[in-house]
Amino acid sequence: MRSREIYVLIGILLVPLHNAFDVKHAKNNLNWKIIGGEDAPEGLYPYQASLRIKNSALRIVTETECRYKGLMRKTIYHYGFHTCGASIISPEYVLTAAHCVAYKEPNTMLVVVGTTTLNDGGDAYAVTEISWNDNFSLWHGRHDIAVLKVSPPITFSTNVNFIALQENEVEPFENVTLSGWGFLDRRDDKVSNNLQHIKLKTLETNDCNSKHEMTVTNDQICTSTQSGGGACKGDSGGPLVKMYNPNVNKQIGIVSYNDDCITGSPDVYTKISHYITWIREKCNNCV
Ligand SMILES: *[C@@H]1O[C@H](CO)[C@@H](O)[C@H](O)[C@H]1NC(C)=O
Ligand SMILES: *[C@@H]1O[C@H](CO)[C@@H](O)[C@H](O)[C@H]1NC(C)=O
Repeated sequence: MRSREIYVLIGILLVPLHNAFDVKHAKNNLNWKIIGGEDAPEGLYPYQASLRIKNSALRIVTETECRYKGLMRKTIYHYGFHTCGASIISPEYVLTAAHCVAYKEPNTMLVVVGTTTLNDGGDAYAVTEISWNDNFSLWHGRHDIAVLKVSPPITFSTNVNFIALQENEVEPFENVTLSGWGFLDRRDDKVSNNLQHIKLKTLETNDCNSKHEMTVTNDQICTSTQSGGGACKGDSGGPLVKMYNPNVNKQIGIVSYNDDCITGSPDVYTKISHYITWIREKCNNCV
């Protein structure tokens, strides 16, 4: 196995969406559209949350140190450093990737909801409990799921709401949507200040496996990332959602990893339907 870009899994990971209209996309006619333009409009993804590391817990002294720790420059915003995406599943619980929170102390983190911009708006909630899957393996990229309890309970509004979870298997070739603040371009190590979104298609597991360095199993879902579109560092932990109709959306995956954000290898997600029972157990039957 090639030495996977482990940093991808370290908190900052993956990916959300490249800007589908950048130069590299101009080379083909695949016509991958970012729904509604480059930036997600306010209120379209009310379940989207940003997981922050509190400024007080960062202790970054120099840029060299910052890079050594795999942190991104210029990304310390008003509630702290955006490290991963997350999704609201109930007033008291959010879902994210295990690699975003494993071995971290709850009091070093905040969950910010209700804004599409990292440097402005939104409300921050304290993280009081972190539960990650016992079988989580960073090395194998498996069982990458965690539930966080927040306090006080999240106040819902037009821009803040929960996302229902997918309980049944999702077919390949479905249209799905990813949203996140991850890198727009891997060569520029900076998360996007504005929430991005992109339309993707689910892949067959075998197909995904053949295009991937790592073994992908049926507790995971892949999406095709045509010509580099898809998740990148900073999107990890964020929600992959299937829109059944404008009023019914369900989260089907949690951004876990990809080989890199440029070559178009598929993005790999933790498959929600496989972990429904586990999620219920950890969130006190909140869903
Ligand atoms: C972890 O894996 C073991 C062995 O397959 C299984 O018995 C156990 O239920 C798993 N734990 C979780 C939290 O899924
Ligand atoms: C996905 O979206 C395209 C374009 O809107 C549509 O033609 C296609 O039927 C959709 N596929 C599925 C499986 O719904």
